[in-house]
Amino acid sequence: MLGNFTYYNPTKLFFGENALDSLGPELDNYGKKVLLTYGGGSIKKTGLYDKIIAILRERGKEVVEVSGVMPNPTIEKVYEGSRIARENDVDLILAVGGGSVSDYSKAVSVSAWCDEDPWERFYWRMEAVENRVIPVGVVLTMVGTGSEMNSGSVITHTEKKLKIGRVFDDDVIPKFAVLNPKLTFTLPKKQMVGGIYDIMSHINEQYFSGTDDNTSDYIMEGLMHSLINSSRAALKNPEDYEARSNIMWTATWALNSLVEKGKTTDWMVHMFGQSVGAYTDETHGHTLSAVTLPYYRYILPYGLAKFKRFAENVWGVDPAGKTDEQVAEEGLQAMGSWMEELGMAMNLRELGVTEDMLPGIARGVYILEGGYKVLNKDEVMEILKRSM
Ligand code: NZQ
Ligand code: ZN
Repeated sequence: MLGNFTYYNPTKLFFGENALDSLGPELDNYGKKVLLTYGGGSIKKTGLYDKIIAILRERGKEVVEVSGVMPNPTIEKVYEGSRIARENDVDLILAVGGGSVSDYSKAVSVSAWCDEDPWERFYWRMEAVENRVIPVGVVLTMVGTGSEMNSGSVITHTEKKLKIGRVFDDDVIPKFAVLNPKLTFTLPKKQMVGGIYDIMSHINEQYFSGTDDNTSDYIMEGLMHSLINSSRAALKNPEDYEARSNIMWTATWALNSLVEKGKTTDWMVHMFGQSVGAYTDETHGHTLSAVTLPYYRYILPYGLAKFKRFAENVWGVDPAGKTDEQVAEEGLQAMGSWMEELGMAMNLRELGVTEDMLPGIARGVYILEGGYKVLNKDEVMEILKRSM
């Protein structure tokens, strides 16, 4: 049965190959001073930076910049951006990049006017934002996280070796997002498949929980079908617009809070993946794929009916003459083959994890309680060992 909920998502989306045409008029809704945030230089190589600057100038904006936002953005970088945003009293943060730049911009949006250490207040103690929040807009160049339409922000504390995701209130969700699938054509393959697998994982995290008959599960099965189909087309031809546009749209719906409404969720693969990320600084999607199958095989007996349904409805496994356990396992095998087809990391060693890192990684895994099995710390360690 669907639980009670409120659904509200304020992000205005501009989708399609001409989506950037909407940026100029949209910018008129905000004040003069814009903080432009971007990553390590891909937007300069592709020419997008010049286009954005031209639009900002045309609209009479004063622009300050923070460049070099790294994948898995750090709190040190957030301090830098917050200082710049506050000193310049900016009216809007325009994030041009992937989930990292978008998450980073949200972190700056809540931190700039916070008089305490934002790491301690927002990411460690998880306290509410009571200070002024600067609006964020996004031009997305990398697909996967759903950050363009959610209030999540994942930040790494390098010294403490902690990577923590925070879900803020609705006022931190980007006000608008420009989604042009063509901007994703230039992604290196490792990033493209990392993003595709991240989408699958977001759906799985929300699907593998609960035993009720729930509309969200049917929506998620549809999203998974579309993703699997489009991922194969994009692998063959990265410039397949139909495939890349479907992947982009699926990513947004996989994590804009729609499909979690009225149901419980798991999110343990992300808890593992984030801690692995804090130790390896690896691409997010690959930190997830490396732990996925050992984790799901471990919890499968506790959520057997859903794993069986996943095998049949998503991967087309024929249940005739098989036990429920066999059907469920075949579903995971089918997903495993698809992950290999994509070229995902299939174990932690591939990411450079060594045995001596495991106790630290295990310590950084937050245990959530919405899934089929609430793990204890020994089980976390056991799953990490099985992921090697
Ligand atoms: O820095 P540049 O030079 O721009 O290069 C980036 C970066 O190296 C490159 N790239 C992006 N667009 C490109 C491109 N290269 C060529 N052409 C383009 N069009 O791709 C690299 C990775 O970018 P990044 O933003 O790090 O990837 P992603 O979108 O996967 O974001 C990952 C971050 O988001 C967090 C992850 O933990 C990670 O820190 N997540 C955020 C979530 C959220 N807000 O809800 C949920 C997710 O589960 C995830 O945890
Ligand atoms: Zn993710």
